[in-house]
Amino acid sequence: MPVETISWKVNSCHIIDQTRLPEKLRYKKIQTIEEMWTAIRELQVRGAPAIGIAAAYGLYLGIRDSQAREFASFEKDIEKASKYLGSSRPTAVNLFWALERMKDLARKHREIPVRMIKQKLLEEAHLILAEDIRSSIALGDAGAELLPDGARILTHCNAGGLATGGYGTALAVIYRAVESGKKISVFADETRPLLQGARLTCWELAMNNIPVTAICDNMAAWVMARGMVDAVLVGADRIAANGDFANKIGTYGLATLAKAHRIPFYAAAPLSTFDISLENGDLIPIEERDASEVMRLNGKNICPSEGVAAFNPAFDVTPHRLVTAFITERGVIRPPFDSKISRILR
Ligand code: MRU
Repeated sequence: MPVETISWKVNSCHIIDQTRLPEKLRYKKIQTIEEMWTAIRELQVRGAPAIGIAAAYGLYLGIRDSQAREFASFEKDIEKASKYLGSSRPTAVNLFWALERMKDLARKHREIPVRMIKQKLLEEAHLILAEDIRSSIALGDAGAELLPDGARILTHCNAGGLATGGYGTALAVIYRAVESGKKISVFADETRPLLQGARLTCWELAMNNIPVTAICDNMAAWVMARGMVDAVLVGADRIAANGDFANKIGTYGLATLAKAHRIPFYAAAPLSTFDISLENGDLIPIEERDASEVMRLNGKNICPSEGVAAFNPAFDVTPHRLVTAFITERGVIRPPFDSKISRILR
């Protein structure tokens, strides 16, 4: 496994504090639901599948000291914890998927003593983590077949081990292609404002000896125009029923550029990232973050601090017509997406 992003050790959850990369690899112990909320909100743990796993452990941390003796009041505590965690970040559906799964499990076991339901909830969080690792390897294998030997891939943000239980989505495809003997090289968009591409993707690819070249976001068109990119490969935070999908701000621009240069554009995601309750991408809630993330860099103002506003949507929506294929643990989905997406989720 490329990295151990999130794990459970001796009564607490351990995460890599991703805000400190690439300078420092520091693990952080999370012992309360409040600490988990902050870790998610502040992007110490980030990336859709990793946020889902974190939410599952966070929910357990939120109810493990519940004094409830019977299910009705325990369920209220679970609901409160779930609502609280659900307020941390709105876009990645994996967070809500994991919370719903934990709540469903508790309801299924409503007849057993509360202390046993708590134990089952912890086991379910472990299962969500283990399944994520398995599905990222499976989707990596499905996607690796799409990449020719020698492929030069452009990726955006970080959809690697750091964004999941440890193997990645878009980067899992690259890891599995390399493990199968292909030579693959990567252009990593820096991904302003928070630089997940430069700080995280470059860090984990370099650590795994995969050739990686960092570029500023505004260089993507030019590297495509010069014939330096064979495919664009990104992750996803929420995929609607028709195949429109949210991912890190800048993804839509890349998809448009890929179309203009006739370069295949792939999005890799586990089934937990699909949200077929939403008909199309217009319905996906888009997180807006603080203006300071745009106005400041490395603790310094990069805009005049007065008389300037900043707009900071953390995600954008790529229309399905720009997507060549989705890569999932159950295989590759090509257009037309709507019927195939609902079939694969059954
Ligand atoms: O704001 P972040 O860093 O959580 O955004 C992450 C992304 O946009 C990833 O590309 C996405 O979650 C897919 S990761 C497997």
